[in-house]
Amino acid sequence: MHSKIKELLQFGTVDTPVEIKGWIRTKRINKQVVFLTINDGSCQQNIQVVMAPSELPKELLSQLMTGASVVVSGRLVASQGSKQAVELYGNHLTLLGNAPDYPLQPKAHSLEFLRTCMHLRFRTNTFGAVFRIRHAISYAIHHFFHERGFCYLHTPIITAADAEGAGELFRVTSLDIPPKNPDGTIDFSGDFFHKSTNLTVSGQLAAEAAAMGLGAVYTFGPAFRAENSNTTRHLAEFWMVEPEVAFNNLDDNIALAEALLKFLLDYVLKKCPEELDFLHQRLLSHTNAQDETGTMPLLERLQFVLEQPFARITYTEAIALLMDAPPNKQGRFVYPVTGWGMDLQSEHERYLVEHHFKRPVVVTDYPKAIKAFYMRQNDDGKTVAAMDVLFPGVGEIIGGSQREERIEYLQAAMQHNQIEDLNWYLDTRRFGTIPHSGFGLGLDRFVLFVTGMENIRDVIPFPRTPGHVAC
Ligand code: 4AD
Ligand code: MG
Repeated sequence: MHSKIKELLQFGTVDTPVEIKGWIRTKRINKQVVFLTINDGSCQQNIQVVMAPSELPKELLSQLMTGASVVVSGRLVASQGSKQAVELYGNHLTLLGNAPDYPLQPKAHSLEFLRTCMHLRFRTNTFGAVFRIRHAISYAIHHFFHERGFCYLHTPIITAADAEGAGELFRVTSLDIPPKNPDGTIDFSGDFFHKSTNLTVSGQLAAEAAAMGLGAVYTFGPAFRAENSNTTRHLAEFWMVEPEVAFNNLDDNIALAEALLKFLLDYVLKKCPEELDFLHQRLLSHTNAQDETGTMPLLERLQFVLEQPFARITYTEAIALLMDAPPNKQGRFVYPVTGWGMDLQSEHERYLVEHHFKRPVVVTDYPKAIKAFYMRQNDDGKTVAAMDVLFPGVGEIIGGSQREERIEYLQAAMQHNQIEDLNWYLDTRRFGTIPHSGFGLGLDRFVLFVTGMENIRDVIPFPRTPGHVAC
């Protein structure tokens, strides 16, 4: 039985016989000794293998190269020079697969280059760290909700509903070319579901129905949006966590969001210290520790967000603040802040977080005209009980609201937004309606924040963006 490198580096006993399996990261050879560093993905560190060249057939020696896969057995010994406590004195090596012309060399490649061979980037230090952190966060999400009595709900991927009412849908059909009705609309009667269907943009509406019986639920799955946003913050296929809680109001919702984000941060800081340390050092070597935006080094930034209470501001206050802000007055915003009613752009969100409050900000009570139909209307008749959580470097990381539980308001909003075909959803308000709230956390954007990566394409294994679907 072979051992995981992580276990050997943490708990390995010197002088015991061991076997490892992994990929060669680097090779150094001289007359007396062959040094190989091997990684098997179990942790950030490589193990160093030391062997005498005489123990390796000549033709094998030339095939030991970066990217090749090997099995090495030998004896664990206390390390002499290296940073690690132990290394492996190998006495037998089997080559599983060689790697001629392997595109990744033992040097730092640019992230842009690695995006041209995404299927290989799992084998780099940076992406090993990112994906182990992404895993840890995903696991901690389930832990957080499970401990609080939430039920994990699997909401449909194929749906007939447009939860956000924004119409950025990927159509699902089994027809080559759906025929048209005489009036020019598409005739779906011969299609698989006999109606128009799409990939889900959010599990929320289904989660609301479930919360009406189960009390507190959460979804955690992929969402699909055909928005043509070619930015470093948007994916066409992204992962979202959506809790929905019966009897919660907006304050409860904000408290739940803050508790979740801090729990996840605390969890990764405790469970992934080596990955975070690697990414921290990587960022330090790529940027000045204090750039012009006053960005903190990664570990300080995570600790800081963990410790600070989130700031809270209404949309109306935020607009007033932004109108008066120096970059607005000096014309430095790409989208000038002109007045109440406009949507906040990423640059405005980041100004609030990074320059004004210098910590995460929850913006509440947006104009109803720029938010989804299901949000609860406030008494002023103009705003809704919405909440967006804004994070440094990323902007909006969570969007949510208290839901409109009064059927007549909901129906009016649906009519206004031309939302049809949701009779089942109205039943949640017809039968035993209650105040309730929920939100959606963009997993990829949260991983972006935690890892300090700059492009959302670098925190998901195989990103889908406009014009790009490799693999
Ligand atoms: O604000 P959004 O659109 O909210 C909803 O979908 C609600 N149904 C959630 C709810 O109340 N249950 O999206 C929620 C979050 C955003 O704050 C963002 O983090 C992420 O999902 N998100 C995206 N992430 C990557 N790429 C995209 N195209 C994204 N669109 C939204
Ligand atoms: Mg949003």
